[in-house]
Amino acid sequence: MIAFEALFNISYGLYIVGSGDKNHGNGFISNTVFQVTAEPPRFAASCNKNNYTAGFISSTGFFSVSVLRQDASPDLFGRFGFRSGKDIDKLDGMQVKYGETGVPIILNDSIACMEFTVVQTVDVGTHWLFIGELLHAEVLDDTNVPMTYLYYRQMRKGVAPKNAPTYIDRSKLAPKPHTSVFKKYQCTACGYVYDEVIEEKKFPELPADWICPSCGSEKEDFVEIIT
Ligand SMILES: Cc1cc2nc3c(=O)[nH]c(=O)nc-3n(C[C@H](O)[C@H](O)[C@H](O)COP(=O)(O)O)c2cc1C
Repeated sequence: MIAFEALFNISYGLYIVGSGDKNHGNGFISNTVFQVTAEPPRFAASCNKNNYTAGFISSTGFFSVSVLRQDASPDLFGRFGFRSGKDIDKLDGMQVKYGETGVPIILNDSIACMEFTVVQTVDVGTHWLFIGELLHAEVLDDTNVPMTYLYYRQMRKGVAPKNAPTYIDRSKLAPKPHTSVFKKYQCTACGYVYDEVIEEKKFPELPADWICPSCGSEKEDFVEIIT
């Protein structure tokens, strides 16, 4: 028996993993960046094989990690976590600096950044596990705390798309009782579900300028879930 709810108890942070160079660069939101050895300092990043960024990491052999702060803008999650660089230039209009290796490092809402050279690539099925040796690390802002996945899920009501290694199909979770008087509305951009029971507020009563807390889409991008 697998109780998928149990997996929510594993802690993660939230990052933008960047790669490429000054001419072409890209990045994606990741909650699976973690340190694997201290000497030398090596980290792993799990990257879906379909991510546009995967090609950049494979071809350049470098990637950056920007540690997002707790109040990072929902727009950043929409741009880097739900859209692909195959469709838009994600770095356009962003605050970007280029590291020692030429890799783009996204500075928006970031409190620390790191740069890695890939020393090993492990095929784990749907994802590549890029093992990177640390080349550079820098604190950008010591007045904020990092966003955790728990905070993202519980406070920001954020969700992760199917490309994320920790994606959980909601139909596999034990059903929670709720009264039919209340409705649910889903963001058509990122899949975030607004539940009137949990929010204790009817969706139509939300102000017109309310935006999706997960990806920053507008209220009109939500549709009612008919069960
Ligand atoms: C909260 C969150 C966590 C995510 N974690 C990962 C991850 O660890 N690995 C991954 O490959 N994709 C992850 N994703 C999905 C990618 O960010 C997403 O598929 C992105 O659009 C890929 O962009 P790209 O095609 O431009 O590289 C995550 C998304 C979100 C919103």
